[in-house]
Amino acid sequence: ARIAVLASGRGSNLQAVLDAIAAGRLDAQVVGVFSDKPDAAALQRVAAPLRWSARPRDFASRSDYEQALGDAIAATAPDWILCAGYMRILGAGIVQRFAGRMINIHPSLLPRHKGLHTHQQAIDAGDAEHGASVHLVTAELDAGAVIAQSRVPVLPGDDAAVLAERVLAIEHPLLVACLQLLCSGRLAEQDGKLQLDGHTL
Ligand code: GRF
Repeated sequence: ARIAVLASGRGSNLQAVLDAIAAGRLDAQVVGVFSDKPDAAALQRVAAPLRWSARPRDFASRSDYEQALGDAIAATAPDWILCAGYMRILGAGIVQRFAGRMINIHPSLLPRHKGLHTHQQAIDAGDAEHGASVHLVTAELDAGAVIAQSRVPVLPGDDAAVLAERVLAIEHPLLVACLQLLCSGRLAEQDGKLQLDGHTL
């Protein structure tokens, strides 16, 4: 399967995907990395011809930016579009364009702690457990169908940085496992719901 990756930052999740492909654990190829931050470390993890970046502020409007982003993604003919630390909210237009093919990794046990600062949110809420979710992207933020989650304990004395590190360690295998399932063709989306082997979950 062909995977396009959107990333704004360091790209450790992208690296986990690249490593799984290189190790023969994921039958896929990364066909492009797309960033809203031209200096994102994530871009450097793939060869130059696979990189695309543009600053949203250089466009007349958000929809102009997302049109250009969507056109660049579409040009790589991806089967799946993975948001891995892409730190912008995507508008309904681009979400609709890739409906059912766009997934996101979010560092919380959705539906708990949507949005930003999820690790601090979990600590402030006194949660005993925290984790990460891979879900379908819909126009509503962090609200699409959850494909899978992975959990970690919240330990006494944790601060957001320590907890983020514990979560990141389980994000990488979670993401690879989800992509293995998606690339196997067994999991698909129908009207916003997930189907495994043709059966609605
Ligand atoms: C991860 O925690 C991801 O879940 C969140 O942003 C972080 C990105 O990390 N959305 P990286 O850029 O993949 O290293």
